[in-house]
Amino acid sequence: MFIVLEGIDGSGKTTAREFIADWFRAKGREVVVTREPGGTPMVERIRSLILTDNDSYEDALTPMGKTLLFMAAREQHLKNVILPGLERGKVVITDRFCDSTFAYQWYEGVDLVTLVSLHDLAFNAIKPTLTFVMDGDPEVFSKRMDNRNESNYYDRLPLVFHKHNRDYYLKMASHNTGRYCIIDAEQDLENVKCQIEEALNKHVETNK
Ligand code: TYD
Repeated sequence: MFIVLEGIDGSGKTTAREFIADWFRAKGREVVVTREPGGTPMVERIRSLILTDNDSYEDALTPMGKTLLFMAAREQHLKNVILPGLERGKVVITDRFCDSTFAYQWYEGVDLVTLVSLHDLAFNAIKPTLTFVMDGDPEVFSKRMDNRNESNYYDRLPLVFHKHNRDYYLKMASHNTGRYCIIDAEQDLENVKCQIEEALNKHVETNK
């Protein structure tokens, strides 16, 4: 079982991820909890390369440069963390996966045909069992982010960027209803947990 959390920044993916992990643990399942870009010390180094602000014009990453780094990070993560976990029968839960690249790097200027080609070359063989889309108004989530101590390059981009990403996720979810589940993440935490639990119960039942 391979579970992915997607959503714009500030949508509460990390809290949801912990809740899902506990839900599976309570059912006696072993769980791997991970994130993209990340999952191993080396991939965390790629993460900080991409997400750290860079003032030098010469060093600024181009959209395509970032895309290739996100994908290099994903290749390492997939082969060294996700697939070994799944092969050992564990539930793998990751904060972000391929849809983040389609949403974010498309808006940054890499055309969709290129993104699809690169994706198909490297990652077409692996499909998440279920993707939770943590959905809500970018303005609401942006206010939540104001209370955080840290923010990365993407967190600080204007609302129009986050609106585009939200639309992308909703479109993906509406075209693949069996493999995506939209969570109204503007609700309070207890309500969000209830929505997730309901989806997990339904999904695990139908996949028995
Ligand atoms: P994330 O860990 O979700 O950041 P935060 O903790 O602030 O929510 O993800 C890091 C950022 O990287 C996020 O803003 C989205 C971006 N990203 C991409 O642009 N493309 C990708 O393929 C991935 C995986 C992440």
